[in-house]
Amino acid sequence: MPHPLLDPRRLAMLHALGLEQAWVPRDALDPAELAALLPPLPGAAAAPTPQGRRAQVSDAPGATRGTPARDAPPAATERTERTERTERGHGAPVPPREAPAARATPAPVNEQRLQQVRSLAWEPLQAFTHDCRACKLGSMRHHAVFGVEHPQARVMVVGEAPGAEEDRIGEPFVGAAGKLLDNMLRACGLSRAGEDPVRTVYIANVIKCRPPGNRNPEPDEIEQCLPILQRQIELVRPRLLLALGRFAAQALTGSAEPIGRLRQRAWDWHGTPLVVSYHPAYLLRTPQDKAKAWADLCLAQDLLEGQGA
Ligand code: URA
Repeated sequence: MPHPLLDPRRLAMLHALGLEQAWVPRDALDPAELAALLPPLPGAAAAPTPQGRRAQVSDAPGATRGTPARDAPPAATERTERTERTERGHGAPVPPREAPAARATPAPVNEQRLQQVRSLAWEPLQAFTHDCRACKLGSMRHHAVFGVEHPQARVMVVGEAPGAEEDRIGEPFVGAAGKLLDNMLRACGLSRAGEDPVRTVYIANVIKCRPPGNRNPEPDEIEQCLPILQRQIELVRPRLLLALGRFAAQALTGSAEPIGRLRQRAWDWHGTPLVVSYHPAYLLRTPQDKAKAWADLCLAQDLLEGQGA
């Protein structure tokens, strides 16, 4: 007996209405049901995946349902919010998925530091990060949060900065936003933990140390930290980058545009496809935008599949 949200007749009706995506409470599915709904595992030969076959897994029971962003009308007004882990989505028309890759022009970084960091291998880079005092955050942190998990991951997720829990534990995305991120990844057949680089992502932040009071990262902090992230990307060599939130999106694309204008495009970060989406913390506060985030994950999945990955 399928979960009521997954009843075939209900799904057919939603499909007919153009509303085929459902956010399903995380624990509502048994593993077999979930496996049947997930996109094909990376590396598996698969037929093109209709959007409607993919279930969205929410962080909480009763979470919202929605249509993919490309079906949604642009929002009339720009939403401006507190920006710690916050996006400003203004609903500008998204470019068509077929649009050619937009070349990212990453923000200029401190050249000398860039050269120094560029010479480092993985473990020295970790040590360099843990010892770093290049900005004021270095003296305030409990832990510099370098990243997890698989250093040869196919997909690399880039967030903004550690929060209080991340600073305490030394791992990115361990709070509520992290749980939602884990669910989003799980819905794509990915996870942060595991031995298999095909199924495991690497998660890092633009900023490695917690900004006090969860304020936004400041430009000098981003400038000092960006070379470390760039080196991490060079060493992980992911097949796809997923930038979550304004700071990651702007740092990697080099654009000052709001997130609503950066998402739903295939960017090119020095030869690596880059997809931009909303930060999970923003999605926790704005669940109606989860459908857009889902559309972004579908774009990421399409790009991976397009690489034959
Ligand atoms: N938000 C982020 O962007 N990164 C974290 O590690 C935690 C919350």
